[in-house]
Amino acid sequence: MKVLQQYMPARVIFGSGSIQKLGEVTKEYANKVLLVTRPWSDAEKDNFQKAKESLERAGVEVVVYDKVVPNPTTTTINEASEIARKEKVGAIVGVGGGSSMDTAKAVAVGATHEGVAWDYVYTETKVADKKKTLPIIVATTTSGTGSHATKYAVFQNPDIKVKATIVNEAVFPQVSIVDPELMTSMNAFVTATTGFDAFAHAFESYTNINSNPFMDMLMEEAMKIILQNLRQAVAEPENIEIRTKMAYADTLAGMGIANVGTTLPHSIGQPISGKCPWVSHGQSLALVYPEFLKFTQDYCVEKAAKVARFANPALQSLSDAEAASHLSEEIIKLQKDTGIYTSLNELKVPREEIEGLVNDAMACPDTYVNPRVPTADEVRQMLLNMWEVK
Ligand SMILES: [Fe+2]
Repeated sequence: MKVLQQYMPARVIFGSGSIQKLGEVTKEYANKVLLVTRPWSDAEKDNFQKAKESLERAGVEVVVYDKVVPNPTTTTINEASEIARKEKVGAIVGVGGGSSMDTAKAVAVGATHEGVAWDYVYTETKVADKKKTLPIIVATTTSGTGSHATKYAVFQNPDIKVKATIVNEAVFPQVSIVDPELMTSMNAFVTATTGFDAFAHAFESYTNINSNPFMDMLMEEAMKIILQNLRQAVAEPENIEIRTKMAYADTLAGMGIANVGTTLPHSIGQPISGKCPWVSHGQSLALVYPEFLKFTQDYCVEKAAKVARFANPALQSLSDAEAASHLSEEIIKLQKDTGIYTSLNELKVPREEIEGLVNDAMACPDTYVNPRVPTADEVRQMLLNMWEVK
C-alpha cells in the first residue's frame, strides 16, 4: 500500500438546527468577527438572520460584509480584508455557499499577511502562515462545494482573467456548521450544479492517480448518495431528509479533495469560470464531464464500472469494461434530468477563449493526476466537442 496520510482538522457540526451553535463555537475564538456573506436575498434572508442572531446571542460583536459575488474576486476580497484589518476582528465567519466560504478564507489570509490575498495563491510565490491567519468559522448553505472541509480558497483576479487557489492548511476552517435546514433555500439550478460539483469532487478524488483505499471508501459512499438522490433534491427542495443526505455526501467529497484532490475536469472547468464569470463552478463541471468521461473512463475501468453501476444498477450484468463504457451516458442522463446538460455555445463562452483555456488547463497540476493525461491537442479537441449539445 502507498503511504497514507489523512488530515481532516475541521470540527464539523452536522445536523438540522446546528446553525444555532454558531455563536457559542465562534465565541471560543473571538469576541468580534467579520460576517462574510452574499447580499441577503429574500430566499436566504432567514439563513443570514439566524447566523447573525446566534452570534449576537453569544455576545459576539458582528461586522457584516455582504458583498460576496459568485466566482469571488480579488476586488471584494481585498475590500473585505481591509475592513477586517480596520475593525480588528478576531475571526472571519463565512455563511453561504462556496463563494462566501472561499471569500471568508481568503480574507482570513488577506487581512493578516503582507500584500493581498492573491499573493498567496499557488501560482504566486508567497505562502500563508497558519499562525498568522485569522480563525475561520463557516456555515454552508449549499451542498456541493465541499469548501467547509477543505484547505482551498478559490477566487479570480479580474485584471488578468485568471482563477486560482490558496492551497494551504491555514485556510482549513476551525469549525464548519452543516445545517441541512439552511439548504432548503437553494433553487433547482443551484441544487443541481452544486450537487454535481460534489459528485465531481468524489469521482476525481476516487480516480486520481494518488487515490487511497480509505478515501475510496468515503468517495464511493458520497457518489452512491449523490447519484441516487440528486434528482429528488432538485425536485423537492423542502425535503430535509434528502437535503441531509446531499449535505453528508458533500462533506465526504470535501474530505476527498482535501486529502487526494481534483483532476482534469477542474483544470478545464475552473478557467472557464475564470474567463467567463457568469458560468458557475458547478455548471462548468457539468459542461466538461461528458467529454472528460469519454476520454477517461476506459483508463480507470474497474472504478468507472462501479460508479456506472451506482448510477444504474441494471449495469450489474455487464462486464467491467462494458459497464465503464456506459458511464458517460449515465451522467448525461443525470444532467438532462436535473437541467444542467449544456454546451460552450449555450453558456456564451467566446470561441476565441479556447486557446487560453487549453493553456490554463495544461498549466494546472490537476491535469497530470488524471488516469489519462491529455496533450494540449486532446484538451482542445474536448473543448471543441463541447461547442454544441448533442
Ligand atoms: Fe469543485
